[in-house]
Formats: sequence, C-alpha cells, structure tokens
Amino acid sequence: MTPLLLIDTDPGVDDALAILMAHRHARIAGLGIAAGNVGLGHTVANALKLCDLLGAEIPVFPGCPLPLVHTATDAAHVHGADGFGDTGYLPSCRAAASEHAALAILRLSREHAGALTLVALAPLTNLALALRLDPTLPQRVPRLVVMGGAASGRGNTSVAAEFNVGFDPEAAAIVFSSWPRFELVDWELTMRHALDFERCEAWLAADDPRARFYAAISRKVRGFNRERGRPGVLAADALAMAVALDPGLVTAAAERHVAVELGGALTRGATVVDWDRRGGRTANARIVMAVDQARFEALVAGALGATV
Ligand code: RIB
Ligand code: CA
Repeated sequence: MTPLLLIDTDPGVDDALAILMAHRHARIAGLGIAAGNVGLGHTVANALKLCDLLGAEIPVFPGCPLPLVHTATDAAHVHGADGFGDTGYLPSCRAAASEHAALAILRLSREHAGALTLVALAPLTNLALALRLDPTLPQRVPRLVVMGGAASGRGNTSVAAEFNVGFDPEAAAIVFSSWPRFELVDWELTMRHALDFERCEAWLAADDPRARFYAAISRKVRGFNRERGRPGVLAADALAMAVALDPGLVTAAAERHVAVELGGALTRGATVVDWDRRGGRTANARIVMAVDQARFEALVAGALGATV
C-alpha cells in the first residue's frame, strides 16, 4: 500500500528533495510548514513553489514563525537567504491554507486515524504545539519519522547540537518525551550516507523539470558541501524520507532512550542517548544506524526523473 504522508518541513533544499521523493513514491496528505532553515515567509513560499513544480494540489499549512521559548539563528548561510539557493524563482500564485499546521496535524490525524506516517524534517515546534493541544495524537499516528539530533554528540549547528533540535530544543524535548516510540534519522547517519557528488550531478542532468529545478536550488548547498570537504551531498531530509518511504532499507537500528539537553552552556540542544541503558528509562526511539545506500539512492534518483 502506498504510504500516506503528513510532512512537517522547513524548505530548505534537502526538504525539497524529500518532498519530491514523497510526491514520486507516496501520497501526501499535507505539508506543515515550520520556520528553521529560513523564516516562515520563505519556507511557505518555497513549499508553494514545489507544488507548482509538481503540479500537485497539496495543502500547505503555515506553522509557528518562532521557536517555543528562545529565538534561534537560521541556516540561510547554507540554504540561501530565501532557503532555495537564492535563484530568484518566480513565486507561486497559490495560497497557503488558513489553518495552522499544528491544528492541521491534529485534524488530519483524526481523518486518517491509523493510516498516517508523520515525517518531521524541521524544528519540531508545530508538532510540539499539536501534542500540547492533544496528547492523544500519537495513538492515531502509526509512524513518526524524525530527522534530527546527533546520536553521539557530533552536531552541525553547534559542537553538540544538530540544527532541527538545536533550533527549538524545548519543542524537541516535548516531542521526545511525549511520543512513545519514534524513528530517528540523525545527522551522523546522514554523514555516513552522503550522496556521491558525481552521481548526484548525473541525476541532476536528467531531462526533467524536477532535476533542473533541484540543480538550481541546490547549487549553493552542493558548493558548501564541497568547500567543507564533506564526503558528498548531505541530504538529511531525503534520508529521513527514504526511511519513511521504504522502512526495509534500514539495515541496522538501535532502540534507546533519547532526551534533549535544554540547559547546558556547551550542550543546549544536544540529543542525549542512553547507549548503555543506565537511566532505566524505556527506549523511546528507534535510532537508524545504517541503510541500504543503493535503495536510498534509487528513491532519490527516481524523484528527480533520473535512473541510478
Ligand atoms: O540538520 C539537518 C536539518 O536541518 C535538515 O532538516 C535541514 O533541512 C535543516 O533543517
Ligand atoms: Ca529541514
């Protein structure tokens, strides 16, 4: 059965690839939009532009413009000031929904009770609000796949914090402590499953509007990855989407308790994994430790109209 996805996202270049993958390989109930990579105005506009590109009638629900407690720095230095590589694309004429993302998450969880896979690709502000409004949400959502965290403390937005958790640690703490069992695709897994630069460029050369659009919006990020000496294109959200679309591509996982540091002077936003089960708390996360790279790349290439 083709999965039915509800995606919370802050497009964002890697978010865009994840959404292309979702459209190619699944059904999308809606896009909840968060602030994160760039401000909410841009992330909503980028989501609407993707709907234009796909010619898809996907509802886009604006969410929270700010983290729950403390302000945070965006990732415009990676994704561009507009979140899509500053290509100056022609904005969509579509309108976003008037319903808040947190309320849309709750409504769609009732309308599709037992059928949704919730994929969280952004700071968890919208999902945290939804949980505070209705703590029974997890009972209606069979799978929650979260892109976030750094399971062994190797962050990307600070020494110890990954961006999605680090941008709104309080929201992540609410989600991690309220959801009985979620699947976690962290930054360190993303580093282990980089997309080879040359293979990526071959996919982006496909004669397909999706490939052309993604080649344009990802040019800045791909350059950033090369300049930083990274092993390839680090597409965290695409990796999380691959796990959501094809759980069978997970080749290794660890069930552990994961918490979020809120107060540490050096470690605020860090995901603290109880690897040795010292804390006596029930595991709340299935931490993905390895995936089948070929199956991951086939899903990415297919979303761009390319073949591996
Ligand atoms: O750390 C990677 C995450 O932060 C991804 O979701 C990326 O889009 C950024 O939001
Ligand atoms: Ca994201």
